[in-house]
Amino acid sequence: MVASSENSLGSELGQAVAKRRNFAIISHPDAGKTTLTEKLLLYGGAIQQAGAVKARGEQRRVTSDWMELEKQRGISITSTVLQFDYQGNTINLLDTPGHQDFSEDTYRTLAAADNAVMLEDAAKGLEPQTRKLFEVCRMRQIPIFTFINKMDRPGREPLELLDEIEKELGLTPWAVNWPIGSGERFRGVIDRRSHEVMLFERAERGRQASERRIQAGDPALAELVEPELLAQALEELELLEAAGAELDLEMVHAGELTPVFFGSAMTNFGVRPFLDAFMELAQKPMARQSSSGPIDPLRPEFSGFVFKLQANMDARHRDRVAFVRVCSGKFEKDMTVQHARSGRAIRLSRPQKLFGQEREVVEEAYPGDVIGLNNPGMFAIGDTLYMGPKVEYEGIPCFSPEIFAWLRNPNPSAFKSFRKGVNELREEGAVQILYDTDQSKRDPILAAVGQLQLEVVQYRLEHEYGVPTRLEPLGFSVARWVSGGWPALEKVGRIFNCKTVRDAWDRPVLLFKNEWNLNQLREDHPELGLAAVAPVVSGLEPISL
Ligand code: G4P
Repeated sequence: MVASSENSLGSELGQAVAKRRNFAIISHPDAGKTTLTEKLLLYGGAIQQAGAVKARGEQRRVTSDWMELEKQRGISITSTVLQFDYQGNTINLLDTPGHQDFSEDTYRTLAAADNAVMLEDAAKGLEPQTRKLFEVCRMRQIPIFTFINKMDRPGREPLELLDEIEKELGLTPWAVNWPIGSGERFRGVIDRRSHEVMLFERAERGRQASERRIQAGDPALAELVEPELLAQALEELELLEAAGAELDLEMVHAGELTPVFFGSAMTNFGVRPFLDAFMELAQKPMARQSSSGPIDPLRPEFSGFVFKLQANMDARHRDRVAFVRVCSGKFEKDMTVQHARSGRAIRLSRPQKLFGQEREVVEEAYPGDVIGLNNPGMFAIGDTLYMGPKVEYEGIPCFSPEIFAWLRNPNPSAFKSFRKGVNELREEGAVQILYDTDQSKRDPILAAVGQLQLEVVQYRLEHEYGVPTRLEPLGFSVARWVSGGWPALEKVGRIFNCKTVRDAWDRPVLLFKNEWNLNQLREDHPELGLAAVAPVVSGLEPISL
Protein backbone atom coordinates (compact mmCIF):
# COMPACT_ATOMS: atom_id res chain seq x y z
CA MET A 1 0.00 0.00 0.00
CA VAL A 2 2.70 2.40 1.06
CA ALA A 3 4.81 1.39 -1.91
CA SER A 4 2.04 2.11 -4.38
CA SER A 5 1.31 5.56 -2.95
CA GLU A 6 5.03 6.29 -3.07
CA ASN A 7 5.05 5.22 -6.69
CA SER A 8 2.18 7.47 -7.59
CA LEU A 9 3.90 10.39 -5.85
CA GLY A 10 7.05 9.44 -7.77
CA SER A 11 5.36 9.66 -11.13
CA GLU A 12 3.42 12.82 -10.21
CA LEU A 13 6.69 14.37 -9.14
CA GLY A 14 8.46 13.17 -12.26
CA GLN A 15 5.81 14.74 -14.47
CA ALA A 16 5.79 17.99 -12.54
CA VAL A 17 9.58 18.29 -12.79
CA ALA A 18 9.61 17.39 -16.49
CA LYS A 19 7.23 20.24 -17.35
CA ARG A 20 8.86 22.91 -15.24
CA ARG A 21 11.40 25.46 -16.43
CA ASN A 22 12.66 28.39 -14.44
CA PHE A 23 14.81 31.34 -15.44
CA ALA A 24 15.92 34.85 -14.59
CA ILE A 25 16.66 37.63 -17.07
CA ILE A 26 20.07 39.29 -16.90
CA SER A 27 20.48 42.62 -18.66
CA HIS A 28 21.61 46.20 -18.39
CA PRO A 29 18.90 48.80 -17.62
CA ASP A 30 16.99 49.84 -20.74
CA ALA A 31 17.77 46.75 -22.79
CA GLY A 32 14.05 45.92 -22.63
CA LYS A 33 13.64 43.51 -19.71
CA THR A 34 10.30 44.94 -18.64
CA THR A 35 9.03 44.86 -22.20
CA LEU A 36 10.18 41.29 -22.79
CA THR A 37 8.72 40.15 -19.47
CA GLU A 38 5.36 41.64 -20.41
CA LYS A 39 5.35 39.88 -23.74
CA LEU A 40 6.33 36.54 -22.22
CA LEU A 41 3.54 36.87 -19.70
CA LEU A 42 1.05 37.67 -22.43
CA TYR A 43 1.78 34.29 -24.02
CA GLY A 44 1.16 32.63 -20.71
CA GLY A 45 -2.15 34.47 -20.44
CA ALA A 46 -0.86 35.77 -17.13
CA ILE A 47 -1.69 39.39 -17.82
CA GLN A 48 -4.38 40.86 -19.95
CA GLN A 49 -2.57 43.76 -21.41
CA ALA A 50 0.95 44.91 -21.93
CA GLY A 51 1.96 47.59 -19.48
CA ALA A 52 0.63 45.79 -16.45
CA VAL A 53 3.99 44.63 -15.13
CA LYS A 54 5.38 47.90 -13.90
CA ALA A 55 6.16 51.40 -14.85
CA ARG A 56 8.99 51.41 -17.26
CA GLY A 57 11.98 53.44 -18.31
CA GLU A 58 12.63 56.80 -16.74
CA GLN A 59 9.39 56.84 -14.84
CA ARG A 60 10.63 53.95 -12.73
CA ARG A 61 13.98 55.47 -12.03
CA VAL A 62 12.91 58.83 -10.72
CA THR A 63 14.36 59.25 -7.24
CA SER A 64 11.12 60.36 -5.66
CA ASP A 65 9.69 57.03 -6.71
CA TRP A 66 12.48 55.29 -4.91
CA MET A 67 11.76 57.06 -1.72
CA GLU A 68 8.14 56.01 -1.76
CA LEU A 69 9.34 52.69 -0.59
CA GLU A 70 6.07 51.31 0.66
CA LYS A 71 4.61 51.59 -2.79
CA GLN A 72 7.70 50.51 -4.60
CA ARG A 73 9.12 47.66 -2.64
CA GLY A 74 6.64 45.15 -3.97
CA ILE A 75 8.07 44.95 -7.39
CA SER A 76 10.62 47.51 -8.47
CA ILE A 77 13.32 47.29 -5.86
CA THR A 78 13.31 43.64 -5.13
CA SER A 79 12.65 40.56 -7.12
CA THR A 80 9.44 38.64 -7.28
CA VAL A 81 8.43 35.52 -9.06
CA LEU A 82 6.07 35.31 -11.96
CA GLN A 83 4.64 31.88 -12.69
CA PHE A 84 2.70 31.11 -15.83
CA ASP A 85 1.64 28.15 -17.90
CA TYR A 86 2.62 27.81 -21.50
CA GLN A 87 1.48 24.90 -23.67
CA GLY A 88 0.97 22.65 -20.72
CA ASN A 89 4.29 23.56 -19.10
CA THR A 90 4.89 25.68 -16.04
CA ILE A 91 7.36 28.51 -16.31
CA ASN A 92 8.76 30.37 -13.32
CA LEU A 93 10.28 33.71 -14.19
CA LEU A 94 12.38 34.91 -11.29
CA ASP A 95 12.10 38.64 -11.77
CA THR A 96 15.00 40.80 -10.71
CA PRO A 97 15.16 44.47 -9.76
CA GLY A 98 15.45 46.92 -12.59
CA HIS A 99 17.92 49.18 -10.86
CA GLN A 100 21.56 48.22 -10.90
CA ASP A 101 22.07 49.42 -7.34
CA PHE A 102 20.12 46.37 -6.28
CA SER A 103 22.19 43.89 -8.20
CA GLU A 104 23.10 42.03 -5.02
CA ASP A 105 19.49 40.95 -4.93
CA THR A 106 19.79 39.80 -8.52
CA TYR A 107 22.91 37.77 -7.68
CA ARG A 108 20.96 35.90 -5.01
CA THR A 109 18.02 35.33 -7.31
CA LEU A 110 20.39 33.75 -9.80
CA ALA A 111 21.26 31.22 -7.09
CA ALA A 112 17.68 29.96 -7.35
CA ALA A 113 17.53 29.95 -11.16
CA ASP A 114 18.14 26.96 -13.43
CA ASN A 115 18.54 29.06 -16.59
CA ALA A 116 19.26 32.66 -17.48
CA VAL A 117 18.14 34.78 -20.40
CA MET A 118 20.78 37.32 -21.36
CA LEU A 119 19.07 40.27 -22.98
CA GLU A 120 21.12 42.63 -25.15
CA ASP A 121 20.22 45.82 -26.95
CA ALA A 122 21.29 45.25 -30.58
CA ALA A 123 22.75 48.74 -30.75
CA LYS A 124 24.82 48.35 -27.58
CA GLY A 125 25.83 44.71 -27.31
CA LEU A 126 27.32 43.70 -23.98
CA GLU A 127 26.99 46.33 -21.27
CA PRO A 128 28.58 46.52 -17.79
CA GLN A 129 25.66 45.23 -15.74
CA THR A 130 25.16 42.29 -18.10
CA ARG A 131 28.83 41.34 -17.83
CA LYS A 132 28.69 41.37 -14.02
CA LEU A 133 25.57 39.24 -13.91
CA PHE A 134 27.04 36.90 -16.47
CA GLU A 135 29.98 36.26 -14.11
CA VAL A 136 27.52 35.06 -11.47
CA CYS A 137 25.88 32.73 -13.99
CA ARG A 138 29.26 31.39 -14.97
CA MET A 139 30.11 30.64 -11.36
CA ARG A 140 27.09 28.37 -11.21
CA GLN A 141 27.40 27.20 -14.84
CA ILE A 142 23.81 28.15 -15.59
CA PRO A 143 22.66 27.68 -19.19
CA ILE A 144 22.35 31.06 -20.91
CA PHE A 145 19.92 31.96 -23.68
CA THR A 146 20.68 35.20 -25.50
CA PHE A 147 17.96 37.46 -26.88
CA ILE A 148 19.24 40.32 -29.01
CA ASN A 149 16.54 42.95 -28.77
CA LYS A 150 15.46 46.09 -30.61
CA MET A 151 16.18 44.74 -34.09
CA ASP A 152 13.58 47.20 -35.38
CA ARG A 153 16.11 49.94 -34.66
CA PRO A 154 19.52 50.48 -36.23
CA GLY A 155 21.96 48.19 -34.45
CA ARG A 156 25.44 46.74 -34.64
CA GLU A 157 26.38 44.03 -37.14
CA PRO A 158 24.99 40.68 -35.94
CA LEU A 159 28.28 38.86 -36.59
CA GLU A 160 30.07 41.46 -34.51
CA LEU A 161 27.59 40.92 -31.65
CA LEU A 162 28.24 37.17 -31.69
CA ASP A 163 31.96 37.72 -31.83
CA GLU A 164 31.77 39.93 -28.77
CA ILE A 165 29.97 37.21 -26.80
CA GLU A 166 32.58 34.67 -27.82
CA LYS A 167 35.65 36.82 -27.18
CA GLU A 168 34.57 38.68 -24.07
CA LEU A 169 32.56 36.06 -22.26
CA GLY A 170 34.27 32.97 -23.57
CA LEU A 171 30.84 31.60 -24.42
CA THR A 172 30.24 29.94 -27.80
CA PRO A 173 27.24 31.59 -29.48
CA TRP A 174 24.93 29.53 -31.68
CA ALA A 175 22.42 31.64 -33.62
CA VAL A 176 19.05 29.89 -33.66
CA ASN A 177 17.72 32.48 -36.07
CA TRP A 178 19.41 35.08 -38.23
CA PRO A 179 18.21 38.61 -39.01
CA ILE A 180 17.49 39.92 -42.49
CA GLY A 181 18.44 43.60 -42.44
CA SER A 182 18.10 45.85 -39.40
CA GLY A 183 16.49 49.09 -38.26
CA GLU A 184 14.28 50.61 -40.97
CA ARG A 185 15.23 47.72 -43.24
CA PHE A 186 14.63 44.90 -40.76
CA ARG A 187 12.63 42.32 -42.68
CA GLY A 188 12.53 39.32 -40.38
CA VAL A 189 14.60 36.34 -39.33
CA ILE A 190 15.58 33.03 -40.90
CA ASP A 191 15.16 30.03 -38.62
CA ARG A 192 18.46 28.22 -38.90
CA ARG A 193 17.08 24.75 -38.36
CA SER A 194 13.93 24.89 -40.50
CA HIS A 195 15.16 27.45 -43.04
CA GLU A 196 11.87 29.24 -42.68
CA VAL A 197 11.74 33.00 -42.90
CA MET A 198 9.56 34.73 -40.35
CA LEU A 199 8.58 38.07 -41.79
CA PHE A 200 8.63 41.21 -39.74
CA GLU A 201 5.77 43.60 -40.16
CA ARG A 202 5.60 46.78 -38.21
CA ALA A 203 2.63 46.48 -35.92
CA GLU A 204 1.30 49.30 -33.84
CA ARG A 205 2.71 49.35 -30.40
CA GLY A 206 1.18 46.77 -28.10
CA ARG A 207 -0.36 44.86 -31.00
CA GLN A 208 0.90 41.45 -31.81
CA ALA A 209 3.12 41.33 -34.88
CA SER A 210 1.96 38.90 -37.54
CA GLU A 211 3.84 35.64 -37.75
CA ARG A 212 3.94 35.10 -41.47
CA ARG A 213 6.35 32.38 -42.48
CA ILE A 214 7.75 31.34 -45.82
CA GLN A 215 10.55 28.95 -46.84
CA ALA A 216 13.87 30.68 -47.52
CA GLY A 217 14.03 29.04 -50.97
CA ASP A 218 10.51 30.10 -52.01
CA PRO A 219 10.68 32.43 -55.08
CA ALA A 220 7.71 34.37 -53.65
CA LEU A 221 10.08 35.72 -51.03
CA ALA A 222 11.66 38.03 -53.63
CA GLU A 223 8.41 40.01 -53.65
CA LEU A 224 8.55 40.51 -49.92
CA VAL A 225 12.22 41.05 -49.09
CA GLU A 226 14.86 42.98 -51.01
CA PRO A 227 17.01 40.29 -52.68
CA GLU A 228 20.28 41.88 -51.56
CA LEU A 229 19.21 41.79 -47.91
CA LEU A 230 18.18 38.16 -48.18
CA ALA A 231 21.39 37.27 -50.02
CA GLN A 232 23.48 38.91 -47.31
CA ALA A 233 21.63 37.10 -44.53
CA LEU A 234 22.02 33.74 -46.30
CA GLU A 235 25.69 34.40 -46.88
CA GLU A 236 26.20 35.17 -43.21
CA LEU A 237 24.33 32.02 -42.26
CA GLU A 238 26.66 30.04 -44.50
CA LEU A 239 29.61 31.59 -42.73
CA LEU A 240 28.17 30.42 -39.43
CA GLU A 241 27.64 26.92 -40.78
CA ALA A 242 31.20 26.86 -42.09
CA ALA A 243 32.50 27.84 -38.66
CA GLY A 244 31.22 24.43 -37.65
CA ALA A 245 29.78 24.87 -34.15
CA GLU A 246 26.82 22.63 -33.41
CA LEU A 247 23.84 23.16 -31.17
CA ASP A 248 25.13 20.80 -28.53
CA LEU A 249 22.61 20.49 -25.72
CA GLU A 250 25.19 19.26 -23.24
CA MET A 251 27.27 22.37 -23.87
CA VAL A 252 24.16 24.54 -23.47
CA HIS A 253 23.42 22.92 -20.12
CA ALA A 254 27.00 23.29 -18.98
CA GLY A 255 26.79 27.04 -19.65
CA GLU A 256 29.41 26.81 -22.43
CA LEU A 257 27.26 27.47 -25.48
CA THR A 258 24.49 30.05 -25.74
CA PRO A 259 21.61 29.78 -28.22
CA VAL A 260 21.11 33.27 -29.68
CA PHE A 261 17.84 34.76 -30.90
CA PHE A 262 17.22 38.05 -32.69
CA GLY A 263 13.96 39.89 -32.21
CA SER A 264 12.13 42.96 -31.03
CA ALA A 265 10.28 42.71 -27.75
CA MET A 266 8.43 45.98 -28.22
CA THR A 267 6.85 44.91 -31.49
CA ASN A 268 6.47 41.39 -30.12
CA PHE A 269 8.56 39.97 -32.92
CA GLY A 270 10.45 36.76 -32.23
CA VAL A 271 9.23 36.38 -28.65
CA ARG A 272 7.05 33.33 -29.21
CA PRO A 273 9.66 31.40 -31.24
CA PHE A 274 12.10 32.27 -28.49
CA LEU A 275 9.77 30.88 -25.83
CA ASP A 276 9.20 27.70 -27.89
CA ALA A 277 12.92 27.11 -28.35
CA PHE A 278 13.53 27.91 -24.69
CA MET A 279 11.04 25.24 -23.64
CA GLU A 280 12.81 22.78 -25.90
CA LEU A 281 16.39 23.58 -24.90
CA ALA A 282 16.31 24.88 -21.33
CA GLN A 283 17.36 22.87 -18.36
CA LYS A 284 14.59 21.46 -16.20
CA PRO A 285 14.98 21.60 -12.40
CA MET A 286 18.25 19.80 -11.69
CA ALA A 287 19.92 18.13 -8.75
CA ARG A 288 21.43 20.67 -6.33
CA GLN A 289 24.54 20.46 -4.22
CA SER A 290 24.14 19.90 -0.50
CA SER A 291 26.51 19.05 2.32
CA SER A 292 25.66 15.39 1.69
CA GLY A 293 26.13 15.46 -2.09
CA PRO A 294 23.72 16.35 -4.89
CA ILE A 295 20.01 16.12 -4.09
CA ASP A 296 17.81 14.93 -6.91
CA PRO A 297 14.54 16.84 -7.49
CA LEU A 298 12.82 13.45 -7.54
CA ARG A 299 13.85 12.74 -3.95
CA PRO A 300 10.36 12.08 -2.56
CA GLU A 301 10.68 14.28 0.53
CA PHE A 302 10.35 18.03 0.26
CA SER A 303 13.44 20.22 0.56
CA GLY A 304 14.29 23.76 -0.43
CA PHE A 305 16.30 26.83 0.55
CA VAL A 306 15.65 30.48 1.31
CA PHE A 307 17.21 32.72 -1.34
CA LYS A 308 15.62 35.99 -0.43
CA LEU A 309 13.88 37.77 2.41
CA GLN A 310 11.71 40.76 1.99
CA ALA A 311 10.15 42.93 4.65
CA ASN A 312 6.96 44.91 4.56
CA MET A 313 5.77 43.86 1.16
CA ASP A 314 2.42 44.93 2.36
CA ALA A 315 2.81 48.11 4.38
CA ARG A 316 -0.41 47.48 6.26
CA HIS A 317 0.86 44.25 7.73
CA ARG A 318 4.54 44.93 8.45
CA ASP A 319 5.29 41.38 7.48
CA ARG A 320 8.40 39.62 6.30
CA VAL A 321 8.35 37.05 3.57
CA ALA A 322 10.99 34.38 2.98
CA PHE A 323 11.21 33.15 -0.62
CA VAL A 324 11.97 29.47 -0.81
CA ARG A 325 13.09 27.67 -3.92
CA VAL A 326 11.68 24.15 -3.87
CA CYS A 327 14.47 21.70 -4.73
CA SER A 328 13.00 18.25 -4.14
CA GLY A 329 9.73 16.50 -3.40
CA LYS A 330 6.27 17.93 -3.32
CA PHE A 331 5.47 20.85 -1.08
CA GLU A 332 2.04 20.91 0.51
CA LYS A 333 0.32 23.54 2.59
CA ASP A 334 0.41 22.90 6.35
CA MET A 335 3.44 20.65 6.12
CA THR A 336 5.73 20.48 9.12
CA VAL A 337 9.32 20.77 7.99
CA GLN A 338 12.73 20.88 9.67
CA HIS A 339 14.72 24.10 9.75
CA ALA A 340 18.29 22.84 9.25
CA ARG A 341 20.16 25.68 10.99
CA SER A 342 18.15 25.73 14.22
CA GLY A 343 17.10 22.07 14.20
CA ARG A 344 13.51 23.18 14.92
CA ALA A 345 10.33 21.87 13.33
CA ILE A 346 8.10 24.49 11.67
CA ARG A 347 4.58 24.17 10.35
CA LEU A 348 4.21 26.05 7.09
CA SER A 349 0.65 27.12 7.40
CA ARG A 350 0.34 30.15 5.17
CA PRO A 351 2.54 29.57 2.15
CA GLN A 352 1.95 32.07 -0.58
CA LYS A 353 2.42 32.39 -4.24
CA LEU A 354 3.35 35.90 -5.18
CA PHE A 355 2.60 37.40 -8.48
CA GLY A 356 3.77 40.97 -8.63
CA GLN A 357 1.87 42.51 -5.75
CA GLU A 358 -0.85 39.91 -5.71
CA ARG A 359 -0.72 36.96 -3.38
CA GLU A 360 -2.61 33.75 -3.18
CA VAL A 361 -2.27 30.79 -0.87
CA VAL A 362 -0.30 27.92 -2.40
CA GLU A 363 -1.73 24.46 -1.93
CA GLU A 364 1.22 22.65 -3.47
CA ALA A 365 4.51 23.33 -5.21
CA TYR A 366 7.17 21.30 -7.00
CA PRO A 367 10.92 21.51 -7.66
CA GLY A 368 11.70 24.67 -9.62
CA ASP A 369 8.82 26.60 -8.00
CA VAL A 370 9.18 29.39 -5.49
CA ILE A 371 6.94 29.86 -2.49
CA GLY A 372 6.69 32.78 -0.09
CA LEU A 373 6.60 32.01 3.63
CA ASN A 374 5.72 34.42 6.34
CA ASN A 375 8.87 34.86 8.26
CA PRO A 376 8.57 35.39 11.96
CA GLY A 377 12.27 36.25 12.13
CA MET A 378 13.52 32.72 11.99
CA PHE A 379 14.70 32.44 8.40
CA ALA A 380 17.96 33.79 7.07
CA ILE A 381 19.21 33.79 3.49
CA GLY A 382 20.63 30.39 2.60
CA ASP A 383 18.63 28.42 5.22
CA THR A 384 17.50 24.93 4.25
CA LEU A 385 14.05 23.47 5.01
CA TYR A 386 13.56 19.75 4.60
CA MET A 387 11.60 16.65 5.43
CA GLY A 388 12.99 13.14 5.77
CA PRO A 389 16.74 12.64 6.23
CA LYS A 390 18.66 15.84 6.94
CA VAL A 391 19.65 17.97 3.97
CA GLU A 392 21.61 21.18 4.03
CA TYR A 393 22.03 23.08 0.77
CA GLU A 394 25.12 25.06 -0.02
CA GLY A 395 24.54 28.59 1.24
CA ILE A 396 24.36 31.65 -0.97
CA PRO A 397 27.63 33.51 -1.32
CA CYS A 398 28.14 37.17 -0.39
CA PHE A 399 29.14 39.19 -3.41
CA SER A 400 31.85 41.78 -3.44
CA PRO A 401 30.53 45.13 -2.22
CA GLU A 402 31.82 48.33 -3.78
CA ILE A 403 30.59 51.07 -1.44
CA PHE A 404 31.38 51.30 2.26
CA ALA A 405 30.19 53.65 5.00
CA TRP A 406 30.16 53.81 8.79
CA LEU A 407 26.64 53.73 10.08
CA ARG A 408 26.37 56.11 13.06
CA ASN A 409 23.59 56.18 15.55
CA PRO A 410 23.61 59.68 17.03
CA ASN A 411 21.11 58.79 19.74
CA PRO A 412 22.54 56.26 22.26
CA SER A 413 19.15 55.76 23.93
CA ALA A 414 17.87 54.28 20.66
CA PHE A 415 20.62 51.63 20.61
CA LYS A 416 18.25 48.70 21.07
CA SER A 417 16.15 49.62 18.03
CA PHE A 418 19.30 50.45 16.08
CA ARG A 419 20.70 47.00 16.83
CA LYS A 420 17.46 45.25 15.97
CA GLY A 421 17.16 47.15 12.70
CA VAL A 422 20.77 46.52 11.65
CA ASN A 423 20.56 42.80 12.47
CA GLU A 424 17.27 42.31 10.69
CA LEU A 425 18.31 44.23 7.60
CA ARG A 426 21.52 42.20 7.43
CA GLU A 427 19.60 38.96 7.80
CA GLU A 428 17.29 40.03 5.05
CA GLY A 429 20.31 40.72 2.85
CA ALA A 430 19.40 44.39 2.32
CA VAL A 431 23.06 45.20 2.96
CA GLN A 432 26.24 43.47 4.13
CA ILE A 433 27.63 44.39 7.53
CA LEU A 434 31.34 44.55 8.32
CA TYR A 435 33.04 45.40 11.61
CA ASP A 436 36.27 47.13 12.48
CA THR A 437 38.93 44.81 13.89
CA ASP A 438 39.42 47.39 16.66
CA GLN A 439 36.75 46.28 19.15
CA SER A 440 36.43 49.80 20.55
CA LYS A 441 34.97 50.96 17.24
CA ARG A 442 31.60 49.30 17.57
CA ASP A 443 29.65 51.05 14.84
CA PRO A 444 28.90 48.77 11.91
CA ILE A 445 30.22 49.39 8.43
CA LEU A 446 27.59 49.10 5.73
CA ALA A 447 28.88 47.45 2.58
CA ALA A 448 26.78 47.61 -0.56
CA VAL A 449 26.89 47.18 -4.30
CA GLY A 450 24.97 50.40 -5.03
CA GLN A 451 24.46 53.74 -3.30
CA LEU A 452 20.69 53.39 -3.28
CA GLN A 453 21.03 50.25 -1.19
CA LEU A 454 22.52 52.44 1.59
CA GLU A 455 19.74 54.99 1.22
CA VAL A 456 17.15 52.26 1.52
CA VAL A 457 18.78 50.99 4.73
CA GLN A 458 18.76 54.48 6.26
CA TYR A 459 15.22 55.10 5.16
CA ARG A 460 14.01 51.83 6.59
CA LEU A 461 15.88 52.26 9.88
CA GLU A 462 14.15 55.57 10.30
CA HIS A 463 10.67 54.55 9.14
CA GLU A 464 10.44 50.98 10.38
CA TYR A 465 12.64 51.08 13.48
CA GLY A 466 12.36 54.76 14.39
CA VAL A 467 16.13 55.40 14.31
CA PRO A 468 17.52 58.27 12.25
CA THR A 469 21.15 57.51 11.37
CA ARG A 470 24.15 59.18 9.81
CA LEU A 471 26.40 57.70 7.12
CA GLU A 472 30.11 58.42 6.95
CA PRO A 473 31.57 57.18 3.68
CA LEU A 474 34.80 55.18 3.74
CA GLY A 475 36.96 55.74 0.70
CA PHE A 476 37.21 52.14 -0.48
CA SER A 477 35.82 50.55 -3.60
CA VAL A 478 37.08 46.97 -3.62
CA ALA A 479 36.64 44.16 -1.07
CA ARG A 480 38.31 40.76 -1.00
CA TRP A 481 37.84 37.85 1.41
CA VAL A 482 41.08 36.23 2.59
CA SER A 483 40.72 32.59 1.60
CA GLY A 484 42.95 31.15 4.33
CA GLY A 485 41.25 33.17 7.09
CA TRP A 486 43.06 34.92 9.96
CA PRO A 487 46.05 32.50 10.08
CA ALA A 488 46.85 33.20 6.39
CA LEU A 489 46.65 36.92 7.03
CA GLU A 490 48.93 36.74 10.07
CA LYS A 491 51.53 34.86 8.07
CA VAL A 492 51.78 37.71 5.58
CA GLY A 493 52.48 40.24 8.31
CA ARG A 494 51.85 43.94 7.90
CA ILE A 495 50.20 45.02 4.69
CA PHE A 496 49.84 48.50 3.33
CA ASN A 497 47.21 50.48 1.46
CA CYS A 498 44.31 48.45 2.66
CA LYS A 499 42.08 48.14 5.71
CA THR A 500 41.33 44.85 7.40
CA VAL A 501 37.80 44.36 8.71
CA ARG A 502 35.74 41.31 9.66
CA ASP A 503 32.45 40.18 8.23
CA ALA A 504 29.40 38.92 10.09
CA TRP A 505 30.99 35.46 10.32
CA ASP A 506 34.25 36.82 11.74
CA ARG A 507 36.18 36.27 8.53
CA PRO A 508 38.86 38.70 7.43
CA VAL A 509 37.97 41.03 4.58
CA LEU A 510 40.44 43.46 3.01
CA LEU A 511 39.22 46.81 1.71
CA PHE A 512 41.15 48.62 -1.02
CA LYS A 513 40.85 52.12 -2.44
CA ASN A 514 41.10 50.78 -5.97
CA GLU A 515 42.01 47.79 -8.14
CA TRP A 516 45.55 49.10 -8.41
CA ASN A 517 46.15 48.68 -4.67
CA LEU A 518 44.65 45.22 -4.82
CA ASN A 519 46.95 44.21 -7.66
CA GLN A 520 49.91 45.56 -5.75
CA LEU A 521 49.12 43.28 -2.80
CA ARG A 522 48.70 40.37 -5.21
CA GLU A 523 52.14 41.04 -6.61
CA ASP A 524 53.75 41.40 -3.19
CA HIS A 525 52.04 38.33 -1.76
CA PRO A 526 51.07 35.94 -4.52
CA GLU A 527 50.60 33.23 -1.90
CA LEU A 528 47.65 35.05 -0.29
CA GLY A 529 44.30 33.74 -1.60
CA LEU A 530 41.85 36.61 -2.21
CA ALA A 531 38.25 35.97 -3.21
CA ALA A 532 35.75 38.42 -4.70
CA VAL A 533 32.89 36.21 -3.57
CA ALA A 534 32.77 35.07 0.05
CA PRO A 535 32.85 31.34 0.58
CA VAL A 536 29.41 30.18 1.66
CA VAL A 537 28.74 29.54 5.32
CA SER A 538 26.40 26.81 6.39
CA GLY A 539 25.12 26.07 9.84
CA LEU A 540 26.88 28.94 11.63
CA GLU A 541 25.21 31.77 13.47
CA PRO A 542 26.45 35.20 12.37
CA ILE A 543 27.75 37.80 14.80
CA SER A 544 25.01 40.20 15.83
CA LEU A 545 25.66 43.84 16.50
P1 G4P B 1 14.41 47.65 -18.88
O1 G4P B 1 13.28 47.01 -18.13
O2 G4P B 1 15.43 46.65 -19.35
O3 G4P B 1 15.03 48.82 -18.22
O4 G4P B 1 13.82 48.20 -20.27
P2 G4P B 1 12.35 48.56 -20.71
O5 G4P B 1 11.59 47.34 -21.04
O6 G4P B 1 11.78 49.53 -19.75
O7 G4P B 1 12.69 49.23 -22.11
C1 G4P B 1 13.51 50.38 -22.21
C2 G4P B 1 13.09 51.19 -23.41
O8 G4P B 1 13.35 50.43 -24.60
C3 G4P B 1 11.60 51.50 -23.44
O9 G4P B 1 11.47 52.76 -24.04
C4 G4P B 1 11.05 50.44 -24.36
O10 G4P B 1 9.85 50.81 -24.98
C5 G4P B 1 12.17 50.30 -25.36
N1 G4P B 1 12.18 49.00 -26.04
C6 G4P B 1 12.11 47.76 -25.47
N2 G4P B 1 12.14 46.81 -26.43
C7 G4P B 1 12.23 47.45 -27.63
C8 G4P B 1 12.28 47.02 -28.98
O11 G4P B 1 12.26 45.84 -29.31
N3 G4P B 1 12.38 48.00 -29.92
C9 G4P B 1 12.40 49.32 -29.62
N4 G4P B 1 12.50 50.18 -30.60
N5 G4P B 1 12.35 49.76 -28.34
C10 G4P B 1 12.26 48.84 -27.36
P3 G4P B 1 11.23 54.10 -23.20
O12 G4P B 1 11.24 55.20 -24.18
O13 G4P B 1 12.18 54.16 -22.06
O14 G4P B 1 9.84 53.89 -22.56
P4 G4P B 1 8.45 54.05 -23.29
O15 G4P B 1 8.38 55.44 -23.74
O16 G4P B 1 8.47 53.07 -24.44
O17 G4P B 1 7.46 53.68 -22.23
